[in-house]
Amino acid sequence: MVHARCFDAKTYDRKAFAPYEGLIAIDYTPEQLTKETAYLAEGYEVVIVFVNDTLDRQVIDILYQGGTRLIALRSAGYNNVDLKACEGRIAVVRVPAYSPHAIAEHALALTLALNRHLREAFDRTRQGNFSLEGLEGFDLWGKTAGVVGTGRIGRAFIQICQGLGMRILAYDPFPGKMEGVAFTDLDTLLRTSDVVSLHCPMTAENHHLMGKKQLEEMKQGALLVNTSRGGLVDSKALLASLKDGHLGGAALDVYEHEAGIFFNDNRKQGIKDETLKALIALPNVLVTSHQAFLTEDALEAIARTTVENILDWERQLPSKNLLTA
Ligand code: NAI
Repeated sequence: MVHARCFDAKTYDRKAFAPYEGLIAIDYTPEQLTKETAYLAEGYEVVIVFVNDTLDRQVIDILYQGGTRLIALRSAGYNNVDLKACEGRIAVVRVPAYSPHAIAEHALALTLALNRHLREAFDRTRQGNFSLEGLEGFDLWGKTAGVVGTGRIGRAFIQICQGLGMRILAYDPFPGKMEGVAFTDLDTLLRTSDVVSLHCPMTAENHHLMGKKQLEEMKQGALLVNTSRGGLVDSKALLASLKDGHLGGAALDVYEHEAGIFFNDNRKQGIKDETLKALIALPNVLVTSHQAFLTEDALEAIARTTVENILDWERQLPSKNLLTA
C-alpha cells in the first residue's frame, strides 16, 4: 500500500479521507510544508499538500532526496509549485475541479454581506444598537457584475448573478460564448462594473492584475471580490484606494501574503502583517480565511479525486490530472 504524508491537515481533511483508509496509508500532520518541515516527508513516496504549502525548488530537492515521488495537490490552483523543479523527478497531480459552486456561492455570500454591511449590522444588534445609519447598500438587480476569468468557477458565479438580475460583463484571454454575457477588455470591465469578481488562476504574467492603475479605473463605490488568489491584487494599493474612498468595499477570501497566517488560529501571536491588519480594521472590508472551498461536498470530492490520482499513479495509469511526470 502507498504511504503518504499529508501536510496542513485539519480535522475536516481527516474526516474526508477516512473512507479510503484501506486503500492508502496516510499519516497526517497539521504542519504546513516549508523547508523547515520538509523532513516530515522523509520515507514517504507520496506527499499530499494544499494551497499554502511551499513547493519551491529547495523544498522539492529535500522531498526528492527523502524518497518522495508524487506530490498530490488537494487543490485546483498550483501556483505554489515549482513544476520545473519537479520535472523528471517527482510527478505532480491536482484536483482540477471539485465544486465550482462552493467557490461561486462563497463569492456571492461575500458580495451580499459586503454590499449590505452585514458584519457591522450583526455587531450592532449584538450590542443592542439597532440604528441603520451608514448601512446603505445598493440593489444588485439591474447592476453590472464584471467577472474576470470565465472557467468553471467564473461561469458558476455568472449563472448566480444572472439569477439576481444583474448584467454581466466578462474578461478572459480565451473568451467563450455564454448566453447573456458580453465579453470585453479588462479596462472596459473595470470602468463599467458595480461588482468585480476575480475567478482566474494566478500565473507568472498576472501578478497584481489589480494594481494601483486598475483599482483607479474601477467605478467610484464599486466592490471588489477576490476568491481566486491573493497575488492577483496589490493589497497596499487596495488599502490606499479604500482609504481615499474610491472603492466602495473589498471582500477577500485570499491574500497575497496569506501563507503562515490563513488556516491558523493566530490569536496568541497576533498578526504581524500591517497591511492585512489595516485592511481587516476597515468597516468596508471582509476577509475570510481561504474558505471558499469549504463545503462538505467539495471536501468529499477533493478527497475522492486525490485518492484516485494517487492510485492511478501507483498503477501507472494515464491521468488527465497530471501536471508533470
Ligand atoms: P478554470 O481553469 O476552469 O478557469 C480559469 C479561467 O481563467 C480560464 O477560462 C482562463 O482562460 C481564465 N484566465 C486565465 N488567465 C486569465 C487572466 N489573466 N485574466 C482573466 N482570465 C484569465 O479554473 P477554475 O476552476 O474556474 O478556478 C479559478 C481559480 O479559482 C483557480 O485557479 C484558483 O486560483 C481559485 N480557487 C480558489 C479557491 C478558494 O477556496 N478560494 C478554491 C478553488 C479555486
